Amino acid sequence: MEKLTQETVNFTEKNIDRIAALFPSAITETKDADGKLKQAVNFDQLKQLLSDEVADGDESYEFTWVGKKQSIIEGNRPIRKTLRPCKEESKNWDTTENLYIEGDNLDVLKLLQNSYLNKVKMIYIDPPYNTGNDFVYRDNFKFSKEDYEEELGLFDEEENRLFKNTETSGRYHSDWCSMMYPRLQLARNLLTDVGVIFISIDDNEVHNLRKICDEVFGEENFVANLIWTNKEGGGSSDSKMFRLKHEYILCYSRNIDYIEITGIPVGNEDRYKLVDEYLETRGKYYLQKLGMGSIQYSESLDYPIEAPDGTRITPIDNNKGRKACWRWSKSKYEWGLVNGYIVIQKDRDDSWTVYSKQYLNCDNEGNIITRTQRPMGVIDEFSSTQASKLLYNMGLGDQFNYSKPIELIKYLIKRLPNNDIILDFFSGSATTAHAVMQLNAEDGGNRKFIMVQLPEETDPNSEAYKAGYKNICEIGKERIRRAGKKIEEELNAKSKEGELFKEEEHRTPDTGFRVLKVDSTNMKDVYYSPSEYNQQMLLDLESNIKEDRTDIDLLYGVLLDWGVPLSLPHITEKIGGKDVHFVNDADLVACFEEHVPEEVIREIARRKPLRVVFRDSSFRNSPDKINVTEIFKTLSPETTIKVI
Ligand SMILES: C[S@@+](CC[C@H](N)C(=O)[O-])C[C@H]1O[C@@H](n2cnc3c(N)ncnc32)[C@H](O)[C@@H]1O
Repeated sequence: MEKLTQETVNFTEKNIDRIAALFPSAITETKDADGKLKQAVNFDQLKQLLSDEVADGDESYEFTWVGKKQSIIEGNRPIRKTLRPCKEESKNWDTTENLYIEGDNLDVLKLLQNSYLNKVKMIYIDPPYNTGNDFVYRDNFKFSKEDYEEELGLFDEEENRLFKNTETSGRYHSDWCSMMYPRLQLARNLLTDVGVIFISIDDNEVHNLRKICDEVFGEENFVANLIWTNKEGGGSSDSKMFRLKHEYILCYSRNIDYIEITGIPVGNEDRYKLVDEYLETRGKYYLQKLGMGSIQYSESLDYPIEAPDGTRITPIDNNKGRKACWRWSKSKYEWGLVNGYIVIQKDRDDSWTVYSKQYLNCDNEGNIITRTQRPMGVIDEFSSTQASKLLYNMGLGDQFNYSKPIELIKYLIKRLPNNDIILDFFSGSATTAHAVMQLNAEDGGNRKFIMVQLPEETDPNSEAYKAGYKNICEIGKERIRRAGKKIEEELNAKSKEGELFKEEEHRTPDTGFRVLKVDSTNMKDVYYSPSEYNQQMLLDLESNIKEDRTDIDLLYGVLLDWGVPLSLPHITEKIGGKDVHFVNDADLVACFEEHVPEEVIREIARRKPLRVVFRDSSFRNSPDKINVTEIFKTLSPETTIKVI
């Protein structure tokens, strides 16, 4: 129900609406005194529209919006945060290489910069489409918490406003662009040189997204704007308009020179119809004339071939009197004849014609191959209705009427060869994780996923909420658990029925995941001026680490800082009664105990770690520190030593 404002008319707004009706291109977005976006008139543009002469002012080709510069600053601003492991919500912690990260993806992308720089082969994201009420983001405007709690109810742990793009604020493009721009810039750093990003989007923002990506990835790295036609579901219901059932998947590469899009196996392509005794190995075939008019004439390809009745056939005979040559050299023809690649038969006009057999699974050199065709820019398969039904049938309720079909994501993953780490930082119901596990189970692949999702509250009226899933991360994690279990059960059943080959039986895919959550830094804030210190603070600062942080929290903080992947295996050993953590054997060794005895340090050094880290406060004085350096210099000079 609309609320009466009990205010007089705002004539400025009315006038802007009138100008918008006459000159839509003279309307832009700006911020009011409170920092909220509003419509405004671009007077330079209006002046130009009302003048026959070129108006004053510099022109340049640029794409900008209100808040672009601020969004760049936001993307570059360092944060004092970390990722805290949550073993109890994880699955197969010790062995898995998959990650599920909870938090705002801007923070997460910043935190992953060291550990995953140039390490990700494929990113798929399905960001909010800016339909008017579908995204939250943080900004720095100074509003009182109460104002916003009332209006939006969303704050992060540091009381930054998490702004929800509501119907009332309209579908402002500036907010959406400011949300996407820094995230894509950070995401690009994570892609390998052969890396590719796929971004789902619809008509609301596709034009802006394309411009942003041209800027972030470089126009030359644009790969394609794919169209996905949703088989069932989706589509506008407005009877006056076109009924649109398609959306887009924008694809950009890190470096266009290095990528290759894998073709689609032709499998049952119609023209391969004939069979011979080589069916098992070479597949079906069709016949192609050996003498084609289109081949550039060459004397070496012009030789006579003997027909079964002894007749001499020349290329010219097969080309109805035009000068021509064969496609194959004489030696290749002789090889083909012996190995069953050549057919010589009489045509309808009773003349002899020479053909080569074009096999489906074998090239003209005798190599077994998978014949592929270039994938089309229109993907005319898969349905979002099926995707929602799947989630519903998995017992995960109705929260996601916008989840993507697993098959669609599998299709995209299959377009890239050997993709190992696949990142989705708007992961929603974790469709991408499901697709990765499913595809690994089908083709024996070893792909890993990293899912990132904001713990956004579920709708209290949704079945998901009633079933106990209070935020989207809970749904995502549960989906991965259930999907993984089903995949394992299916593989076990196949194995019992003897449907798997021996080597496949050992290929159970990684269905585990480590859960990590964004939190404030592990370190205490020590930036006080000397006059600010009091006795209690000095006592507190004896340790610079927050009291509620465990050794494993500290270990992951160090991995992030030092750029070590978060998926590596790690164990804890007792050495001299002290806990010592070994990451991937001795890639990194950490001991965060207060007071580490010299014998323990010597033992760690004897293991020759690549990197070693201690707690700063565990050394009573600088001679102690020098002693540690000396021990490593003698026993393991290659080790890099750091303290926290
Ligand atoms: C369109 S949905 C993705 C749906 C997903 N592809 C699927 O199949 O379920 C977008 C998701 O991004 C999440 N999201 C929005 N802003 C985010 C942010 N700043 N950080 C992390 N996740 C965010 C939303 O909570 C939502 O779940």
